[in-house]
Amino acid sequence: MVKICCIGAGYVGGPTMAVIALKCPAIEVVVVDISKPRIEAWNSDQLPIYEPGLDDVVKQCRGRNLFFSTDVEKHVAEANIIFVSVNTPTKTRGLGAGKAADLTYWESAARMIADVSKSDKIVVEKSTVPVKTAEAIEKILTHNSKGINYQILSNPEFLAEGTAIEDLFKPDRVLIGGRETPEGRKAVQALKDVYAHWVPEDRILTTNLWSAELSKLAANAFLAQRISSVNAISALCEATGANVSEVAYAVGKDSRIGPKFLNASVGFGGSCFQKDILNLVYICECNGLPEVANYWKQVIKINDYQKSRFVNRVVSSMFNTVAGKKIAVLGFAFKKDTGDTRETPAIDVCKGLLGDKAQISIYDPQVTEDQIQRDLAMNKFDWDHPMHLQPTSPSAVKQVSMVWDAYEATKDAHGLCILTEWDEFKTLDYQKIFDNMQKPAFVFDGRNIVDSEKLREIGFIVYSIGKPLDAWLKDMPAVA
Ligand code: NAD
Ligand code: UDX
Repeated sequence: MVKICCIGAGYVGGPTMAVIALKCPAIEVVVVDISKPRIEAWNSDQLPIYEPGLDDVVKQCRGRNLFFSTDVEKHVAEANIIFVSVNTPTKTRGLGAGKAADLTYWESAARMIADVSKSDKIVVEKSTVPVKTAEAIEKILTHNSKGINYQILSNPEFLAEGTAIEDLFKPDRVLIGGRETPEGRKAVQALKDVYAHWVPEDRILTTNLWSAELSKLAANAFLAQRISSVNAISALCEATGANVSEVAYAVGKDSRIGPKFLNASVGFGGSCFQKDILNLVYICECNGLPEVANYWKQVIKINDYQKSRFVNRVVSSMFNTVAGKKIAVLGFAFKKDTGDTRETPAIDVCKGLLGDKAQISIYDPQVTEDQIQRDLAMNKFDWDHPMHLQPTSPSAVKQVSMVWDAYEATKDAHGLCILTEWDEFKTLDYQKIFDNMQKPAFVFDGRNIVDSEKLREIGFIVYSIGKPLDAWLKDMPAVA
């Protein structure tokens, strides 16, 4: 009987394993983590992550063939297939700091596998890793192997947060990379057999190890590049009177380009895009390809430019100062339908406004005050090192408050910034919000989700990314 163990019960390990357990009732799946609170949460009614549809999947198989445990060594020793889904953050110090992937968590997982294993194992890279990581992992395992045979596979995960369950149920593709040897092919087939329980055969792609590892970094870079492209055009739209939604629609109608991932925004966020592009840039530099590295760097530069452009719009439209003014922020998560705030553009926007001494009142339906305070006080890249592995909790930022209602957040505010596209923000009573705000009252829509014409009729001055500017904003140009 196949027994699967997944090391790392995070945004990827938890949902992915829950879906494998649901679709493969004959396979026992155990998800392990060094974080006791995380495992306790997975075993409770309050799961550690918010993801539509996840509760239902977990309820159906937890205790049947899906288990969550902190007994990492026992379950690793018993498994035939071990997924490693630990975090691979950007290095914060030392060689490659600010770019290279920090493989500390990965390496310690690999060494632990080598220590406790007593039978042959298939070790699956689920985390996003630099190309050639499998070679390093192979070395750690084989140099400590005690005669055990290890096969390393690369099986990167393509789910997006907020739609993880849907993505796992119906993936565009499952990618499996392995060694091109008889043992390697056998291991690839064993993993294929797991996915074949619900994924059509033609969607399971097999490649060599390095192609699989690199495809993941490349896919994220391509997706992020589309957003930076449309965001770059959004700046030009504002300067010329074109409308970015119309331009993106017209461009996306070309079947070679396609309509997805062309929504202009305040900037992309999330735990993957920036980290993986920086990692790609570092790999290019290490391989003597500075031109290629610079090409991809630009995707991040435009993203940073977009965030600072947004902050400058807010400040310049409000008479060039927000000092002491209440600014409401609706949405802090990096996208809707998740409580995840890793690399959310809201962090940079709030920090920019705090730099100009604003008083910020934040409402997000899924994000807690503790989390926001932590995010705003943390140094760049520290966020991706799990909480329980961080030495101290930073102190709270006093100019920021968190409320549990959009009306409370906007009461007496001078300006309102929409930073996450939560559906509920589309149907708020904006007349009521206007009546309770200071005048002139501003809306800065960082996600282009509100009907700007209706808001203007109410009396708001409205800024929407990449849309023709109100006369007021034209008179107060923002310089990024
Ligand atoms: P996460 O931080 O939510 O989860 C990682 C977990 O691993 C943490 O709970 C941590 O405690 C645990 N861990 C770390 N070292 C461990 C060890 N030695 N033993 C046991 N547990 C250990 O991270 P995530 O978002 O799930 O991402 C995991 C990987 O998947 C990353 O490489 C990421 O780039 C990749 N990925 C993420 C997404 C996403 O949407 N979040 C999508 C695709 C790929
Ligand atoms: C991404 C990839 O989509 C996924 O395949 C990979 O496995 C992990 O990284 P994720 O970061 O969870 O997934 O969400 P995604 O939907 O890609 O959004 C990332 C960011 O881009 C969000 O901040 C989102 O708001 C922003 N975005 C997305 C835009 O600004 N415009 C768009 O058109 C699409």
